Amino acid sequence: MLLGQDKPRDAATKPKMRTAVGGNVAATVHPIASHAALSMYKNGGNAVDAAIAAALCLGVVDGHNSGIGGGCLMLIRTQQGAIHAIDGREAAPAAASETMYVRNGKPAAELSQIGSLACAVPSQIAALKMAHDKLGTLKWSALFEPAIEAAESGYTIGLATHNAISSERENLTKYEASRDVLLNPDGSVPKVGAVLRQRDLAHTLSKIAKNGPEWFYTGEFAKACVAYLEKQSGMLTRADFANYKAIERPCIKSNYRNYQVIGFPTPSSGGIHIAQMLNMLDKFDVAKIYSHSKGDFFHLLAECMKRAFADRAHWLGDSDFVKVPTFLVDPHYAASLASQIQLDKASTAIVHGNISSDDEKKHTTHLTTADSLGNWVALTSTVNTTWGCKVMIPGTGVMLNNEMDDFSIAPGVPNAFGLVGSEANAIAPNKRPLSSMSPAIVLAKDGTPFLTCGAAGGPKIINATLQNLVRCIDLNESIDQAIASARIHQQWRPDVVYHEPNLGGLRQGLSIDRDSESEETKHLKKLGHPLKVASSLAIAQGIQSTERGLLAASDPRTDGEAVAYP
Ligand code: GLY
Repeated sequence: MLLGQDKPRDAATKPKMRTAVGGNVAATVHPIASHAALSMYKNGGNAVDAAIAAALCLGVVDGHNSGIGGGCLMLIRTQQGAIHAIDGREAAPAAASETMYVRNGKPAAELSQIGSLACAVPSQIAALKMAHDKLGTLKWSALFEPAIEAAESGYTIGLATHNAISSERENLTKYEASRDVLLNPDGSVPKVGAVLRQRDLAHTLSKIAKNGPEWFYTGEFAKACVAYLEKQSGMLTRADFANYKAIERPCIKSNYRNYQVIGFPTPSSGGIHIAQMLNMLDKFDVAKIYSHSKGDFFHLLAECMKRAFADRAHWLGDSDFVKVPTFLVDPHYAASLASQIQLDKASTAIVHGNISSDDEKKHTTHLTTADSLGNWVALTSTVNTTWGCKVMIPGTGVMLNNEMDDFSIAPGVPNAFGLVGSEANAIAPNKRPLSSMSPAIVLAKDGTPFLTCGAAGGPKIINATLQNLVRCIDLNESIDQAIASARIHQQWRPDVVYHEPNLGGLRQGLSIDRDSESEETKHLKKLGHPLKVASSLAIAQGIQSTERGLLAASDPRTDGEAVAYP
């Protein structure tokens, strides 16, 4: 429900703090969610409580990126030093098949992106509950309070929500609840500054707060959702909901310089490929290369990215269904890849794939929290592309994901991110689609946490996280400086290095006509890299342990905020 041009009256309208230092910190893409985390600290909660409250809140105030209709991956380092990798990735319906998107003998990609056939089993609630059961300290219902309040009282629409509605207006119009909740009664897009109230979503959140995930997976939500989807020729059943389980998985550990990097295993591809690229970079004196030529630094990164994404397309899928080879994270394998990299020339050797566009839309969200006890959380959450499959279930306020598009719907057919895949990531009943979400935590030699980062932005997540890690570890930059630096992205196919404006400097603002050529881009071109400028390559958040305390940083590419509680 939309109200007119109300007076700005919430945290979204206050000046944003991009960095914050303190004992208990958080960084998210929306001030209201960051403040939800802060309120958990104030009430005596820990970083896990803060992360859960922030994630629930983001589903209300940033619902085009994530929400309870989607899923998440959660990486936690506890105060005792244990690591938990909680896989809350959506699962395909039991009736799913490799041919479910084939029409008249041809793959119909739109079906995996828009409408009721595109959604997999929503999984965020199951993952958040698992994290809370293991490590939370506040009451489950208390974690929902800020999200319920934001849904019930409304929040002021900012540019991100406005643009997300605007870009999908036509598709949202097709579904009654999406239309009624997100558009003005005349079908127009609400202006920045209008207030968005989501009373159905407030009701749904209140029920889950009170009755637990059962209400969602086996109770009224599953019933309403399946009944509506059936009318729309969807595939999800009550049994799909009832059978969904979050899974705790062994994390990926790799050594880089003097640190141990903890990454997320499959169905994320990020943990494996970040480890693989760091293993390649380990063979180079990155700091020296950077001080000699930033252009060479970006060239080296692009060469590593190209090789990792070629492997991703071929080998990666849900390891509960296919064998993902362990050699991908073996330093010897990385050494052989690194030995093929020429520092004076872009390689063109590798095969496969196609991409349709340099899609710069924003997807997904990453948030991070850490507390004075030593609990650290990196949580990436998503409904996949903007507003997921665009189907909101009437009476619930829940927008469903379109995570089925993260499968390879047919060999060689690119998904919404231009990623191609092989049999390893083909659709199968109950299988989880491959993800690029890459929550990462870096530990010092003595096991104490040094850094955490992650990002939103499809496959750009992997490369943005790599760059932030390398900048902090090799170049000794602070996490806010690393996050603000202009990035590159290479995903093997197409053979293009995407770069942000002002490459070699800091990235601020989102205009792409300013300084899009730099010494670094000229150098990359000279070495043979095809280039394309992109306004924004991923949205990252991070936390670093410093002498002053925990430093939280929110990406200047969007309207997020970092907060601290002493
Ligand atoms: N849905 C985007 C990803 O998981 O990579």
